[in-house]
Amino acid sequence: TGDGYQAWLGYHRIAPGNVYEQYAALKAITVNENAEVIRTAVTELSRGLQSMLGYEPVVEESGESAGSIVLGTFGNNAIVDRTFAEDTRSAIGPEGFAIKAVKENRSIVIGASTAPGVLYGAFHLLRLMSTGEAVDNLDVVQNPVNQLRMINQWDNIDGSIERGYAGKSIFYKDNRITTDLERVRDYARLLASSGINAISINNVNVHKYETRFLTEAYLPDVAKVAAVFRAYGVKMFLSINYASPLEIGDLTTADPLDPGVREWWRAKAAEVYAAIPDFGGFLVKADSENRPGPFTYDRDHADGSNMLAEAVKPYGGIVIWRCFVYNCKQDWRDRATDRARAAYDHFKPLDGRFMDNVILQVKNGPMDFQVREGVSPLIGAMEQTNQMIEFQITQEYTGQQRHLCYLVPQWKEVLDFETYAKGEGSPIKRIVDGSLYGNRFSGFAAVSNIGDDANWTGHLLAQANLYGYGRLAWNPELTAEAIAEEWIRMTFGGDEQLVRTIRGMLMDSWSIYEDYTSPLGVGWMVNPDHHYGPNVDGYEYSKWGTYHFADCHGIGVDRTMATGTGYTGQYKGPNVEMYESLASCPDELLLFFHHVPYTHVLHSGKTVIQHIYDTHFVGVERAEQLQAKWSELQGSMHEGLHQQVAARLAEQAAHAKEWRDMINTYFFRKSGIADQLGRKIY
Ligand code: GCU
Repeated sequence: TGDGYQAWLGYHRIAPGNVYEQYAALKAITVNENAEVIRTAVTELSRGLQSMLGYEPVVEESGESAGSIVLGTFGNNAIVDRTFAEDTRSAIGPEGFAIKAVKENRSIVIGASTAPGVLYGAFHLLRLMSTGEAVDNLDVVQNPVNQLRMINQWDNIDGSIERGYAGKSIFYKDNRITTDLERVRDYARLLASSGINAISINNVNVHKYETRFLTEAYLPDVAKVAAVFRAYGVKMFLSINYASPLEIGDLTTADPLDPGVREWWRAKAAEVYAAIPDFGGFLVKADSENRPGPFTYDRDHADGSNMLAEAVKPYGGIVIWRCFVYNCKQDWRDRATDRARAAYDHFKPLDGRFMDNVILQVKNGPMDFQVREGVSPLIGAMEQTNQMIEFQITQEYTGQQRHLCYLVPQWKEVLDFETYAKGEGSPIKRIVDGSLYGNRFSGFAAVSNIGDDANWTGHLLAQANLYGYGRLAWNPELTAEAIAEEWIRMTFGGDEQLVRTIRGMLMDSWSIYEDYTSPLGVGWMVNPDHHYGPNVDGYEYSKWGTYHFADCHGIGVDRTMATGTGYTGQYKGPNVEMYESLASCPDELLLFFHHVPYTHVLHSGKTVIQHIYDTHFVGVERAEQLQAKWSELQGSMHEGLHQQVAARLAEQAAHAKEWRDMINTYFFRKSGIADQLGRKIY
């Protein structure tokens, strides 16, 4: 249909006479286990095959000789056991799978050590078919690279979504957890099919009613939501309010070292686990942007998180503690305080003090999900502490799903960034997959971009970010192009011209957005609060610590050790010098690390001011080209899908002009330097 609801699980009908029809294996599903997640795998396979091939496969308990897709876990299914030798089986971790096409009996066998592994195997087979890959010689072994592959909803009980750009919450309505869980189930399908295995269902800013999720007023409904996700192998977490003992208990303190407080949390954990035995644990935003936390009691983040970790430990639960901690009441006149330093300064000294079921969740950059910023130096800086990375799928600062911005290339850059944490060969991806330091827990988290808009993400093409996030969490080695291509083929079908065009648009989109918005890594320049649209000085005299310091001579934040805030010193090895020195600092981050005159010459050979003008003019042209490219695709997809994207691209092209003109005009007026090409600046 034309609304986009099916997203990448539409499983387009493959034209009759296709290569798959001859495989006897695709006509039946053989399964002898009854675990819930295996039943899900069977349902998904049947549904996908029926949709692609036009007939419903027979489901049977045994039927090897007739040719079949056989599903099962090792030790429980004779065919599976016979198909996979011991060395294959031992290579498959808890969520991995093996798939083998067995010619002799015309079957395809999916084996795993757990039910979720079987489900991922089923989705893999469906993905291969819906992207047009051959399946007759399959011999695949896959394990997810990251253990935790988590989604964070920033949904509130009133139905609003903090930084949500695709309608209202699918979880909450009229201050209740929704009783119609159909859409939540469809969301679970989307998540599991891309490889996600964990979700926190409420905003990290936990307000009054959400604090009560831990009480019997809400817990039974929370458990129902958990049950929906459980069927798809997705574990449920809750964001909690650090001050819960005061707000929903009758304690007078939330001091983490107070025995009464510790006891209160132990009892609370017992209650939660009684309702949801496989509950994942707590996600905590504490002492961050006015949220309560251990600082009130003169305690630190280790004290606070360990108290909670102790409470969930008997149940195998974990505590995910966010590191987005900084002074949000800064005085703009104070040039010594640097928000970029804050997370590292707060947490690095605590290394070694966290329990082994605490994970620190660190945003990819030290500021806040800007179109471009440095990579957080905290990631990899704590050898004895579990860490996970936090990305933002929702496009808060990257066009709010009104503009196209495919974020996978940005995430890839971050993941490939060499930290030198343990010398060469210490990229971010090896820290967050736990392999560099041998962590017990680690992984990916990201803020979701979905809401109750028919197409889930507002901008149809923003679905690629949700899909891509899951795929990258599963395997960070996948390329951004390959992920884009999978998503396009699954969503729109395999017309080659269409695939090429959309892939090109996606791959260009981040740099286009960067072109016409804030230049050279300095960030912000958005309207305060809602963060949409240009406002160069929107945050310049605010308390949030997000400044560009533009004057009539130059612009940028001096974060060097020599003359600035010393932030560069938080990096390791050659990175320190690379950022410290003007000569080696990469252009795209120049203004993040240095304050320079407008006449400073970049490595590109242009002056800073000319770079600003050029990128802003070019950015608008490129945004217009996106529109033109899309219009060529009219007729090659459902008209409804085409129209919704065309409307967003038109808005983007117009809004890009607003950005261009505000930014160019601002810097022309500040600097008094004319554009070398004499283009129109107001
Ligand atoms: C950003 C965002 C907030 C959010 C915060 C966080 O600052 O604008 O809405 O609460 O990040 O990550 O906690």
